[in-house]
Amino acid sequence: MTDARKFQSVPGVRDILPPESAFWNHVEQTAGDVFATYQFSEIRLPILEQTELFARSVGASTDIVGKEMYSFADRDESSISLRPEATASVVRAYIEHGMHTQPGDVKLYYMGPMFRRERPQKGRYRQFYQIGAEVLGQSDHPGIDADVIEMVLVFIERCGLVGHTLCINSIGCKDCRPKYVELLRAALTKVKDRLGPDSQRRIETNPLRVLDSKLEAEQTVIETLPRIADHLCDACREHFKMLQAMLFMRQIAYEVNWRLVRGLDYYMRTTFEITAPGLGSQNAVCGGGRYDGLVELLGGPPTKGIGFALGTDRLILALEEAGKGAAAPQLDAFIAWMGAAAYPMAVRIARALRDAGCSVELPHEEMKFKKSLSLAARLNARFAVILGDNEVASGVATVKRMADATQQSVAERELAKILRK
Ligand code: HAM
Repeated sequence: MTDARKFQSVPGVRDILPPESAFWNHVEQTAGDVFATYQFSEIRLPILEQTELFARSVGASTDIVGKEMYSFADRDESSISLRPEATASVVRAYIEHGMHTQPGDVKLYYMGPMFRRERPQKGRYRQFYQIGAEVLGQSDHPGIDADVIEMVLVFIERCGLVGHTLCINSIGCKDCRPKYVELLRAALTKVKDRLGPDSQRRIETNPLRVLDSKLEAEQTVIETLPRIADHLCDACREHFKMLQAMLFMRQIAYEVNWRLVRGLDYYMRTTFEITAPGLGSQNAVCGGGRYDGLVELLGGPPTKGIGFALGTDRLILALEEAGKGAAAPQLDAFIAWMGAAAYPMAVRIARALRDAGCSVELPHEEMKFKKSLSLAARLNARFAVILGDNEVASGVATVKRMADATQQSVAERELAKILRK
């Protein structure tokens, strides 16, 4: 007896089917085109990395590393993980290949799947996709931050997204943040019994993350907490002021959100997020920020860094919600042939039209004309090229325009010209 088990994709992991997959290609192509105008080049990164890379950079106490990573012992007992994000990999590659010797800033972009074992829901998957970009170099000029933000906005707007919001914040540096974190911890300890268990735990492990809480009951308490903007050192305050001037110069609208701390440990100074309408609770389409010092932390030379990652799944969902999603693919020509003698002509014409760049559907089983024309209509073909005994004898095809059912006779060698119009 055969085992008639039905296989399904694992929870939180999904197939991307046509025609949606064509829309994904279009979005990814647009990203590459826009990023190239800002002089970014593509880096292709591995999906597997040493677990330690993420523990060190993203942070061992973060949810991503602590709870959500797919990690396993390889056959040699070393621990490896499916990447939950790609900034750590970019930095690893930057160090491994000595890219700091390249002239100017190193500007890289990437796209591909990431893996986090989160609770699946609309816009949240365990295998999801990111399009991201990173700038690594010697300068931490806020103009770089603003350029990176401008670039991602140009990209999503070119894809057709509207109604999105950019939020920015500064979370200080290694000089001013620890003092603020202590202040915050003290303030949180005073209101501990008004917080839920997650936030209570975070008072010890990562007080900044309490600011991220979406729990309704905690909101009024959080609003009374000290704000980092009031505790930035002079250099960080100046950097944040300059960033805002740089955004203003570019006519980029933004909101300052003092609670935008982000869930990864490597950030310092600038953090930003873009939210889009129509996505429900998982409405962040893009997150990013500055991570000066991360290269050193991973064993490289002193380097500044800033970047972002955009959730491709969410961007596409938002575009679809706005009615700007996948269009049914256009088929240029359906070859409706009948009679054994017409088949070689059909094969020849299909090849010639494809060489000319037309998309062609060539059925291989013989069908009655009525049936093949109905199939042509269901496949949304622009034209049906009809080939029967008369057409074979004369070398002239009958071309039917499906939109209005008009027919004309076209010599075989003229077909590509007529169909491409
Ligand atoms: P992140 O905020 O963890 O940042 O992720 C960036 C984006 O990826 C999110 O805004 C969201 O759109 C998408 N995303 C994250 N998790 C999921 C999920 N489970 N399902 C669907 N989409 C998801 C980073 O990953 C940083 N590496 C960004 C960065 C680059 N910062 C500097 N450079």
